[in-house]
Amino acid sequence: MTTTTLLIYVLAAVAAATWLRSRKQSPIPTIAEAEGVLSSHRTALRFLGNATDVVARGCHQFPEGVFRLPTLFRWEYVANGLQRLSEIAAAPENILSFHDGAADSLQTEYTIGAAVKHNPYHVATVRGSLTRNLARCFPDVRDEIVHAFNDVLALEGKEWKSFHVLPQVMQIVARTSNRLFVGLPLCRNQEFLDLNVNYTIHIFTRGQLIKLIPEFLKPTLAPWFSSKNSSLRHALKFLGPLLEERLAKDQELGADYPDRPNDAISWLLDIATDEERTVPALALRILVINMAAIHTSSTTLTSALYDLTMYPEHMQPMREEAERVIAEEGWSKASLASMHKIDSFLRESQRLSATGALGLTRRVVAKDGFTFSDGTTVPHGAFLSVPANAIHGDPDNYENPEVFDGFRFSRHRKQGSALADPEDTNVNGAVFTQHMVTTSPEHVAFGHGRHACPGRFFAATELKAMLAHMLINYDVKADVEGVRPSDMVFGAMRTPSATGKIMIRRRV
Ligand code: HEM
Repeated sequence: MTTTTLLIYVLAAVAAATWLRSRKQSPIPTIAEAEGVLSSHRTALRFLGNATDVVARGCHQFPEGVFRLPTLFRWEYVANGLQRLSEIAAAPENILSFHDGAADSLQTEYTIGAAVKHNPYHVATVRGSLTRNLARCFPDVRDEIVHAFNDVLALEGKEWKSFHVLPQVMQIVARTSNRLFVGLPLCRNQEFLDLNVNYTIHIFTRGQLIKLIPEFLKPTLAPWFSSKNSSLRHALKFLGPLLEERLAKDQELGADYPDRPNDAISWLLDIATDEERTVPALALRILVINMAAIHTSSTTLTSALYDLTMYPEHMQPMREEAERVIAEEGWSKASLASMHKIDSFLRESQRLSATGALGLTRRVVAKDGFTFSDGTTVPHGAFLSVPANAIHGDPDNYENPEVFDGFRFSRHRKQGSALADPEDTNVNGAVFTQHMVTTSPEHVAFGHGRHACPGRFFAATELKAMLAHMLINYDVKADVEGVRPSDMVFGAMRTPSATGKIMIRRRV
């Protein structure tokens, strides 16, 4: 047994004891299997390995209600029913805090630093400038996709070759995203890309380890696990001189000088004030945007590729669609909007794979707790979530929910396809509820409501362009026919296998 494993066991034991001590009575009911001290302890451990099943049992027992289930440290409150989900999604930050929820899930105070939580101005950058500039920047994104696939896959002839999917996809996504964030030549610097990929992985994995440390020991122990300081120091090697130059130019010439780069550095500088206008603070925001973009987009594309090899009947119709659209309209953000089957396939893959057992996690920060319209109150300080996997698998929300039906959304949108811009999520027409970027109480892969992912327009553009590029240029098949690499599950988190492989060969 390694020291790390031993440490994890010790921490888990301490955590379990802490949880047992901190159990409180509450008017919100507990799931049946967790009644009694030993049973709740067992359920808390079972939640680590099979949270989806534990939550599903709760949903079955309380089809229209709020229930509690035990985890190692605390009670997790779960709100079942679409009406309750809508109420959570609409609640303001000073009642239900998204940032306090994320601070807990990713232990952001230790993995990223408190400043980002206290002033999350980068969210406005992503929601505003980044999204507005997508069409204009698309030629660069497309150019980077072509180069990244060529370099990362490095396929010469037309022989099949086996690839570990997630690590390769992370490289491609990191490089393509950074073309938009920091531009050439830095977006192709391998050391810079590795730094961003590794820091992203650290936040998600070490955040989970830090979560196991009892609260009072965190200030002492957590810094040992976090790579925040070393990653920032490393990032400054690349971003330091670049940011110094950009800050000096903005200072000297203002924000409108000719040839000011149209990238995330400029977009951050447009909003950053006071202490955020320093080189280390700006470098940290670049790392944070990378973190938000790389993990989520890479796991989404990886799952979609596993699904493509499991359900290969989708390949030819999507390939024909991509080839026809490109022949008629060329590569652009607008032409991607005509790729309905590809859009639908990605959305269906997200439905079945993108979420863990819980989603929309918020901390109740209102001092009197959070009261639903039916009068149920969840106490101050509680962590409240929705049963994401159960929602995506509910027969009331989807016909044959257990079936992977890649074109279920493109079939629906066809019925109303005469309506206007499919990217317009504000239009109340049935057709628009089926688009990849559209969030709804039935589809929460990008969250829903006030904090719905602001990067989803970029993510959808990038992922659709990547999948279309793959379909046109490459054949893919399962590494072992009929076997989908198993997802990795830890508590409420779920990601596609990091070691799974698929076979790829060049078509053209
Ligand atoms: C397929 C890719 C992606 C998925 C599945 C995804 C998913 C999510 C989810 C589930 C949330 C929380 C929503 C909630 O709880 O209501 C979120 C928030 C966020 N995402 Fe994404 N995301 C993706 C890509 C991106 C990209 C590319 C960026 C940046 C360029 C980004 C930036 C953010 C930010 C900044 C937030 C926090 C929003 C806030 O504080 O209100 N995401 N994302």
